Amino acid sequence: MDKLKVAMVGAGGRGMSHIRSIAAAPNIEFVAICDLLEEAGRPVAEEYDIPWVETIDQLLSDYDADGVGICVQTPHHYETAMQVIEGGKHLLTEKPMASSIAQAREMMEAVEERGLVAAISYQLRFGPVYLKMKELCEQIEPIQIIFARQRSMMADKYLSPAPFDGIMDFISHDIDMVPFLAGREPKKVFATMGRDVWSQAGAIEYIGAQIELGEGPHRTVGVISSSQGGGGVPQRLDVVGRHGIAVATGSEIRFATGPNPPKGEPGRDTWTANYLGESRDFTADLYKRWAAACLDPETDLAPAASYRDGYNALLLSLAMVESGESGEAIDLAEFAPSVE
Ligand SMILES: NC(=O)c1ccc[n+]([C@@H]2O[C@H](COP(=O)([O-])OP(=O)(O)OC[C@H]3O[C@@H](n4cnc5c(N)ncnc54)[C@H](O)[C@@H]3O)[C@@H](O)[C@H]2O)c1
Repeated sequence: MDKLKVAMVGAGGRGMSHIRSIAAAPNIEFVAICDLLEEAGRPVAEEYDIPWVETIDQLLSDYDADGVGICVQTPHHYETAMQVIEGGKHLLTEKPMASSIAQAREMMEAVEERGLVAAISYQLRFGPVYLKMKELCEQIEPIQIIFARQRSMMADKYLSPAPFDGIMDFISHDIDMVPFLAGREPKKVFATMGRDVWSQAGAIEYIGAQIELGEGPHRTVGVISSSQGGGGVPQRLDVVGRHGIAVATGSEIRFATGPNPPKGEPGRDTWTANYLGESRDFTADLYKRWAAACLDPETDLAPAASYRDGYNALLLSLAMVESGESGEAIDLAEFAPSVE
């Protein structure tokens, strides 16, 4: 089997799961680890018998990688990715794609111009439950998608006023998942949110957002509701479609793919099945897919999220915060050119 030569930048908390996933992917050869900190890079180099490199310049000039995984802190995504793009390498970057829309747009345009395969690490798209929900959504044509996921307080490092921190970090996968499941572009958003309910760091601590997707009489409504004060409240993902329903609870999905029963008729028969799946390493599945798309231009990157998906998710996320701050509904087509 052809293997993609991949180097990794960033061996911090999340970087370690990338590293295990790269090592587990059968179509990848792990060629180098780059981290500014020797104490982070050296142990990885020793474990996988590869070189540790301190800077990206060194990585690009001295090592022969076809692709690069990027897992540095979010404020450094842009500068790191642009260096890798200018070096002509394919790349897989952590989410959120960048710290601003202007940066994300430049990154997206740069990879599209150069024909590079660039993915964003929305690895939950590879979770068996979400893959099955996506398949069901293609059959039932979603009208309403409801993501309600609550949690307890997040670690201090996530509690900053940045629009992608606090509860926004926790729901970043849901913000990507709503348009993914709907198979439609988000058009408008209205959100209510609050900061500093349970701590004093300026972080967004709860949000409720309604997202309008697609156009026409049967456009889809997505609802995301999440807070840091909801530890113990069960999570839910409910989809009501024109031609059926799908409800995910943990690894179990209850669904019906058929007409909505007419008035007066009892509820429809539903199927229940478990979608735990064999693989629990969604990031390895993501790397495998990205490497396959890099190795063979005929292979689609989907269901992996592209840089364009990453840009769209960041735009939607910033629009949710803007709406939450201003109390106004946001039209994404008007918002995109106005926001840096
Ligand atoms: N997809 C997910 O589910 C998920 C989960 C957690 C974190 N993340 C994302 O992962 C990213 C990294 O988070 P983390 O918690 O691993 O951060 P971290 O601070 O633990 O690690 C970052 C590492 O990058 C290194 N680094 C920074 N700049 C560098 C540079 N220019 N060259 C080489 N090395 C450099 C640092 O020395 C550090 O070791 C963030 O963007 C975060 O949002 C995603």
